[in-house]
Amino acid sequence: MITPDEYTFLADLLKKHSGLALGPGKEYLIESRLPPVAVTYGHADVTALIAAMRRGAPAPLVKHVCDAMTTNETLFFRDSKPFVALEKEILPAAAKRAREQKRPIRIWCAASSTGQEPYSIAMIVAQSEHMLGGAKVEITATDYSAAALARAKAGVYNQFEVQRGLPVTLLMKYFAPVADGFELKADIRSRVQYQEINLLNPYPAHWQFDIIFCRNVLIYFDVPTKKDVIDRLARTLVKGGSLFLGGTESTLGITDSVQRVPNHPSGVFCRDGDQALILASAAA
Ligand SMILES: C[S@@+](CC[C@H](N)C(=O)[O-])C[C@H]1O[C@@H](n2cnc3c(N)ncnc32)[C@H](O)[C@@H]1O
Repeated sequence: MITPDEYTFLADLLKKHSGLALGPGKEYLIESRLPPVAVTYGHADVTALIAAMRRGAPAPLVKHVCDAMTTNETLFFRDSKPFVALEKEILPAAAKRAREQKRPIRIWCAASSTGQEPYSIAMIVAQSEHMLGGAKVEITATDYSAAALARAKAGVYNQFEVQRGLPVTLLMKYFAPVADGFELKADIRSRVQYQEINLLNPYPAHWQFDIIFCRNVLIYFDVPTKKDVIDRLARTLVKGGSLFLGGTESTLGITDSVQRVPNHPSGVFCRDGDQALILASAAA
């Protein structure tokens, strides 16, 4: 059992480096996720690992500990409605804008975990290509977790994972059976560019996106961190751009830098003042 003092030390470290607000009573998470990290770094157990970290932890160890504490739960086409909206209205509107501005449509999947979310987006893009009038699409997928990103890049999913949210028609069209599951074909894999990005850190200055998916990560942050991240995401949205948060996530009482588009079934957000643009594309 780790002591309250050790718990506080780890909670502070996680908050500072990955934003994770551990809260009380999460000892079980530490005790289930950190033993492999302790072994990797030659420590007998988590208590020994924490004791070593308190004496001074090198950056790779801190990263490894914070990475191991991330929750990477995800599935294909999670919550379905954002993906329906993406296909039916958000992507066509972004294509129109991109064609007018003679640039590609840019999509950022900002907590992409093991890849099911950006690949769901990529499959929709592939299926919609004929409706985009030649507009190119760039999908950037980022995550804090190097382990999750490595799995995402590999694009191999087991039976359980492909049964979660992925229509069988898309499984047959875009995946090939391999020894340990199903491998996404290169046509879809190559549409997604992965990068390790900590949402707490500044984003590349030139980043501007038509569409951002940042779903089911803000739930792990405290309110000031949520506000900081949402405000900086808002600054990377182009005029008329759309932000998708998770189904249970809201900006109410946190920030006004983005607003939920009223009466929109998918719970999409946009920069203040852009609601009419999104509603117009929904009606088109
Ligand atoms: C629960 S998953 C959500 C995945 C996907 N967006 C979805 O909704 O299915 C949360 C992801 O957020 C990532 N994450 C946690 N803290 C982060 C941070 N500070 N910066 C970037 N990603 C972070 C985790 O590594 C994890 O992959």
